[in-house]
Amino acid sequence: MDSIVVTGGAELRGTIPVAGAKNACLTLMPATLLTDEPLTLTNAPRLSDIRTMTQLLQSLGVEVTALQEGRVLAMSSHDLTSVRADYDIVRKMRASNLVLGPLLARAGRAVVSLPGGCAIGARPMDIHIAGLEALGARIELRDGYLHAEAPRGLRGAVIEQRFASVGATENVVMAATLAKGTTVLRNAAKEPEIVDLAKCLRAMGAKIDGAGSDTITIQGVERLHGATHPVVADRIELGTYMIAPAIAGGEVELTGGRRDLLPTFCEKLEEAGVTITETNAGLRVARANGRVRAVDVTTGIFPGFPTDLQAQMMALMCTADGVSVLEETIFENRFMHAPELMRMGARIAVHGGQATVTGVERLRGAPVMATDLRASVSLILAGLAAEGETRVARVYHLDRGYERVEEKLGAVGARIERVRGD
Ligand code: UD1
Repeated sequence: MDSIVVTGGAELRGTIPVAGAKNACLTLMPATLLTDEPLTLTNAPRLSDIRTMTQLLQSLGVEVTALQEGRVLAMSSHDLTSVRADYDIVRKMRASNLVLGPLLARAGRAVVSLPGGCAIGARPMDIHIAGLEALGARIELRDGYLHAEAPRGLRGAVIEQRFASVGATENVVMAATLAKGTTVLRNAAKEPEIVDLAKCLRAMGAKIDGAGSDTITIQGVERLHGATHPVVADRIELGTYMIAPAIAGGEVELTGGRRDLLPTFCEKLEEAGVTITETNAGLRVARANGRVRAVDVTTGIFPGFPTDLQAQMMALMCTADGVSVLEETIFENRFMHAPELMRMGARIAVHGGQATVTGVERLRGAPVMATDLRASVSLILAGLAAEGETRVARVYHLDRGYERVEEKLGAVGARIERVRGD
């Protein structure tokens, strides 16, 4: 298995282009199931999770052609041959469950294995199920699979989610586009990926209002047609690379970056003493001199602080001046990076959903182990600021969500390389 080796201490200067959003692309791809005409996504990221979704769609009979080295995904669901999302694929990636809503809407049936994914908590599917049942589906769990049926088609309904789940919102919105009548989804997720999905669905002929707010209204239509849609910028990749110059020092411009994708995160970085400037091309991030200040962070739904940037923020706080408290409210068990950061000299105490970080002058390189996607990149960020060499093992998690991390950081002056394993 590959490792990434980082030698800390180099200041970062230059430009990093922000890729299309993994999480947006993973919900836009299943949207192809809603139409028998071609759906083309541009600005797609080149990641192993996207290849996993490609395999899953292909197993359902979808034709997926990757063009321009994977930047463009041309898909056609003209001939669906299966409605079964097999455990072998789903266990690799939780987002596989996003085929459930579209398959039900298009084919009236879906059999989807309960997902695996990152080991960061229980991650049940009750909100997805409640939403789709409200639209008239019958769903049963048998042999580890959800068996869903809507033989007479789906019907619009008023749905109030008990929590603003991102995935459940996506599944329900996609399913409701082809339901009879109007669906009103309350306590909907507001993340930019939901706005992007609605934009794509509208380009396909769907009638959707309110995406990006608490209430989304979908008027069902008979059929959707083909479209071409550019994937929104990846706000988590953006935030991750904004932390790089903050932790290592220097100045980096993130092309394609937008402040409105990360409002609370940008405020917190500024509170810590990092300078963020909007430029024509994106965002410029600089830390001129001295350590950043400790700031407290509580993760929350959008526009709150993203849980997917908590591990990276913790890495930054490890070298901050002062004591910070990081509270995780979205996933339990999402501090698995803490013991690894401690192997690098960080001072962290975890109590349930809270971590107290006492900043140290300097971290020290160490061999560490990546436990999930965002945890792995937090260890690379810590390595940028550490004295000596940090070797991050098990980076297959990283390749799920960051394209060519060593090239992107290397291009701005980081001393980083991938060591190929078996
Ligand atoms: C998506 C993102 C993930 C991000 C998360 C929160 C994708 C592919 N993944 O995941 O990177 O960390 O949003 O921003 O877009 N929950 C339930 N029942 C459900 C559904 C969710 O209890 O039916 C709980 C989960 O266990 C979790 C919380 O709700 O504690 C948030 O989950 P959700 O918003 O659904 O996240 P995902 O869509 O899985």
